Amino acid sequence: MGMEKYNEDDNSEYLYGPEILQKLDFNKSPAKFNPPISATKPGEDWMVVRPLQRADYNKGFLQLLSQLTSTGNISRKQFDERFTQMKSSGGYYVTVIEDKRISKIIGAATLTIEQKFIHNCSVRGRLEDVVVNDTYRGKQLGKLIVVTVSLLAEELGCYKMSLDCKDKLIKFYESLGYKLEPGNSNAMNMRFEEPS
Ligand SMILES: CC(C)(COP(=O)(O)OP(=O)(O)OC[C@H]1O[C@@H](n2cnc3c(N)ncnc32)[C@H](O)[C@@H]1OP(=O)(O)O)[C@@H](O)C(=O)NCCC(=O)NCCS
Repeated sequence: MGMEKYNEDDNSEYLYGPEILQKLDFNKSPAKFNPPISATKPGEDWMVVRPLQRADYNKGFLQLLSQLTSTGNISRKQFDERFTQMKSSGGYYVTVIEDKRISKIIGAATLTIEQKFIHNCSVRGRLEDVVVNDTYRGKQLGKLIVVTVSLLAEELGCYKMSLDCKDKLIKFYESLGYKLEPGNSNAMNMRFEEPS
């Protein structure tokens, strides 16, 4: 069911143009990589940093997200419709790390771009849904994916990039250039329903 609809060409479709990742200058980031790695040279020939593809439905992308929070049972059709919506609305930069040896997504982070009137019709970036597969943690991949989308935000003209995180991750994000701003570091939520 649906196999005929998702041929090879459809499957390799990117959420956003991958060329922009070539432009990112990792020397701009305060993050310390030892050994040095970047989006274009992630340190292993079996690893690639790239935009989300439709094919990632079958490469464990949703299983990876389920290590972050509940995803629910997302069908191929639901995934495909959401991918299409994100792509046509623009401003969604879901970025992944693939282990090409096993065709599995092992890391992900999303940059969303928020359009503003303030600051002369500026744009603001938000970092969301950061996760590295638990068996790959502690190998700089968290830093790699966060620095990638942070540099991407700058490249796309954002005047700032913001995130919410658990207290224990503050040091991790501080090492990548994020700051708790005195008097302006409160995240508040109004919950309308239990997440499904
Ligand atoms: C947070 C996360 C993405 C980090 O990925 P990772 O690949 O292990 O990160 P790195 O190897 O790049 O680690 C970078 C540094 O942060 C530290 N760090 C990573 N995760 C940490 C955690 N949960 N608590 C405290 N420190 C942490 C590491 O010790 C490392 O420090 P070092 O450079 O001084 O050695 C990963 O732990 C994860 O997916 N966690 C579950 C999902 C989650 O909490 N996402 C973030 C929501 S805000």
